[in-house]
Amino acid sequence: MEIHKTILICVAGCLSVVVGWPNGKISASCDNMLPIHGGSVPQSSPAPYIITVSNTTFNPGDIITVSLQSKSSSDAYKGFLIQAHLVGGDGITGIFTTSDSNAQILTCGTQPNSAVSHTNSNLKKTITAFWTAPQGAGPVHFRATVLTSYSHFWSGVESEVIQALQMSNATCGSQKFCLMNPLNCSPRDNTCLFMSSSPSTNGYVYEMSGPTSGYVAIGFSDDQKMGNDDVFICTKNSSGNILVQHGYNTGTVAPTMRNVSSAGSIVSSYKNGVLKCSFITSSNSSTLQRASGSSSYYVFLVSGPSNADGKIQKHTKMVISSHKVDLSTTTSVTTSNSGTSSVVLGHGSLMLIAWMTTGSIGMIMARYMKSAAGKPFLGKAAWFQVHFFLMILTVILTIIAFIMVFVNVAGWSGGVHPVLGCIVMILSFFQPFAALFRPDPKHERRFIFNFGHGINAFVIKVLAVAAIFLGLILVDISPNQWMPKVMGGFYAWEVLFYIILETNMHLKTKDIYKNDYKIEIVALAIFICGNLAFLVALLVGIGQSA
Ligand code: HEM
Ligand SMILES: *[C@@H]1O[C@H](CO)[C@@H](O)[C@H](O)[C@H]1NC(C)=O
Repeated sequence: MEIHKTILICVAGCLSVVVGWPNGKISASCDNMLPIHGGSVPQSSPAPYIITVSNTTFNPGDIITVSLQSKSSSDAYKGFLIQAHLVGGDGITGIFTTSDSNAQILTCGTQPNSAVSHTNSNLKKTITAFWTAPQGAGPVHFRATVLTSYSHFWSGVESEVIQALQMSNATCGSQKFCLMNPLNCSPRDNTCLFMSSSPSTNGYVYEMSGPTSGYVAIGFSDDQKMGNDDVFICTKNSSGNILVQHGYNTGTVAPTMRNVSSAGSIVSSYKNGVLKCSFITSSNSSTLQRASGSSSYYVFLVSGPSNADGKIQKHTKMVISSHKVDLSTTTSVTTSNSGTSSVVLGHGSLMLIAWMTTGSIGMIMARYMKSAAGKPFLGKAAWFQVHFFLMILTVILTIIAFIMVFVNVAGWSGGVHPVLGCIVMILSFFQPFAALFRPDPKHERRFIFNFGHGINAFVIKVLAVAAIFLGLILVDISPNQWMPKVMGGFYAWEVLFYIILETNMHLKTKDIYKNDYKIEIVALAIFICGNLAFLVALLVGIGQSA
C-alpha cells in the first residue's frame, strides 16, 4: 500500500521535476527526496556539491543562511530539493524563505515552507535560502537532492550538523534517545539532569545538561555497574572553561582520560547553575574501547563536583538506564531509573513496614489500651505484651534496614535524610534498654520513666516522619512525586485516629459513658486496615522505582 503510493508519487514527482514541469513544483517528492524515474538510481560518486551554513548553532527563531554550491566551477546543477532534517531521523523542521529567483519555497506534507526547490532548469552554481529555527528542535542538518538531468542526480547531500543551543526534550523517543531524572524533565528546568543521543552520518550527537558547577558525564556499559565503561565528560574548571573529555572507567575510581579530539562541534554553556555540553563524536559506539560485540549498552548519566583544573570527583547524582539501549536507533522509548539500588529500596521498604504498621500500632496500643483490663498474658497485661512485641519488632526492622543502607549507598544523594535516620536509630535503640531498667509500676519515681519513655517515643515518631518523607522524595522517580503525597495522606489518617482516641479517652475520664473498649477495638481495626492499604500502595511505588 504505502510502497505503491510512494511509487506513484515518485513517478509524478520525477516527471514534474525534469520532464514535465521544470518549474520545480515537486512537493510530491518530499517524502523520500528522490525523483526516481523508471530505475534511475542516485549517483554513487561523491556529490560535486556542498551545503554550507552560516552558523553551526541556533536558538529558536534564529535565521541560518543555507547555500547549495558547486564544489568547482565546472559543475552546475539544474534541479534541487533542500530540506532541514532533525538528526537521528527523517523529521523535517523549521521554515524557509528565499529571495533567490532560481529558488522557491514548497510545502512538504502538512508543513508549509518546509523545503526549497528550483524554479527553472537553468544551470546554477549556487543558490541561497534562509532557514528559521523552530522551538524545541534538536540538532539539525540540511539535506539535498541535486539533479543535472532527469536520470543523473545525487541524493543525500548533507550539510554539517547545526546544534541547538537550547536543549529540549521535545523529540525524545522519536528523534533521539534520552535519559533524565526526574522522569520526563526538561533540560530547561534547572533541576533536570538530562542526556540525549542521536545517530548522524558523521557520528553521534550527544547532549548533556545538569544542575552542577562541576561536571556532567555519560557512560556506556555492558552492565549496570561502574567499571569498564566508556564515558564522555563535560566539566568546568575554575577559570570557567568548559571542557569535553573522553575517558574510560577502569573501576569505581576516576576514569582514565582518552582521546579528547574525538569530540567535535562542541557547544557548551554554564548559566544559572546549569552546565550544558553538546558535541558530535567521530567515534561511534563501535569504536569504544570495550569490545563487547554488541551495539547496545546500558547508559549512565552522572553529575558531581570537579577540581580547579576540571578533574572530576565522585558523582553525587546518577541515573542508569533500566535496560540496554541500541544507540543506532532512535525509536527506543525514553526510559530511566533512578539508579537506586535494590538494597536502598529494601531499606525503604523495611522502614515503611516498621513505621507504618508495627511501630505505629504498637504506640497506639501503649497510649489507649493501657487501662483495658483484659486477661494477663504470660504474666503481664495483654496490652503490654502486644506493645512490647511490636516495638521490639520495630527496632529490629529498623536496625536491619539501617545496616542495609550502609552496605551499599550508591547514588544516595544524602542531605538531611541520613542525619535524621541516624538520630532515629540511636533514640530507637535507647528506648527498649531504658525500659529494661524501669522502676516498678508502684515505685514513687515510676512517673519519670513513663514521662521519659513517652517523650522519647514522641521525638522518635516526629523525626521518623520527617526522615521517611525525605527518603520517599529521594527514591520517588515519578514525575508527580506521588509517594510523598500518599505518605502525607497516611499521616493525616494517623492523626485522625489519635484525635478520635484522645477524645474518647478524655470523655471516659469524665465518666460520660461506660468504660468498655468497644470503641477502641473498632477504631484500632479500622486503623490497621487503613495502614495496610497505605503501606501496600507505597511498597508498590518502591517496586516501581527499581
Ligand atoms: C572521580 C570519579 C568517580 C569516582 C571516584 C566514582 C566512584 C564510585 C563508587 C565508589 C561507586 C560505588 C557506589 C558508591 O559508593 O556510591 C560508584 C558507582 C557508580 N558510578 Fe562512579 N565514580 C566516578 C565517576 C563515574 C563516572 C564518570 C561514571 C559514568 C558516567 C560513573 C558511573 C557510576 C555508576 C553508574 C555507578 C553505580 C553502579 C555501581 O554501583 O557500580 N562513575 N562510583
Ligand atoms: C581551564 O581550561 C582552559 C582551557 O583548557 C585553560 O587554558 C586554563 O588554564 C584552565 N584553568 C585552570 C585553572 O586549570
